[in-house]
Amino acid sequence: MLKIAHRGAKGYEPENTLQAFQKALDLNADGIELDVHLSVDGHIIVIHDDTIDKMTSGKGFVNTLSLPELKSFLIAEKHEIPTLNEVFNLVDKKCLINIELKNSDTFSKVVALIEEYISEKNWKYEHFIVSSFDWSALQHVHDLNQNIPIGVLTETDLNLALAFAETIKAKAIHPYYHLLNEENTKEIQEKGFLVLPWTVNIEEDIQKIKSFKVDGIITDFPDKI
Ligand code: G3P
Ligand code: CA
Repeated sequence: MLKIAHRGAKGYEPENTLQAFQKALDLNADGIELDVHLSVDGHIIVIHDDTIDKMTSGKGFVNTLSLPELKSFLIAEKHEIPTLNEVFNLVDKKCLINIELKNSDTFSKVVALIEEYISEKNWKYEHFIVSSFDWSALQHVHDLNQNIPIGVLTETDLNLALAFAETIKAKAIHPYYHLLNEENTKEIQEKGFLVLPWTVNIEEDIQKIKSFKVDGIITDFPDKI
């Protein structure tokens, strides 16, 4: 069962920072999950919200700020907002990277970066899984490169997610964990998809979800799995 550290080990370090991803590696997570947006000057920025307001002392939409401007606003007064390249270089093939596309404007840059690391740095497609609630973005990823593993995120409708996953030959379904039970977990797996629920943090929930024999769990506390 894969232990995937949500936004890095968010339970221990500020989310989506290099420190959070290093903590996930230190805790022997099998993977990290992160969120991406595009800066105004075309860099893939690792941050959850579409603004920097919550995480930094600055204000503004990520897609209106340049990389130097984004770097000038620190998280918890000491951490820079990372780019996706910086996270790839930190992880350096040591675990799976689940890239969640928060908008549909990032897909072509993310595909290009994955292809660059595969062709030039000896990474494999298995090092990546691209997920999104925006299924049109996933369709675009699939259209650009059918080898990139895709995870279909859903908060509400497993059947719809399954139907879409079949059309794009996704690797996994990433359901909100309250949607799952033992039976539907098995059904999804029998159709050939991994089941990777999010975000399971409480001991009681972890035990219940593990009992469904899911393929992995996205959690703020990878050491609790
Ligand atoms: O990947 C699943 C989970 O990360 C989706 O929720 O809001 O934490 O990005 P959120
Ligand atoms: Ca996410």
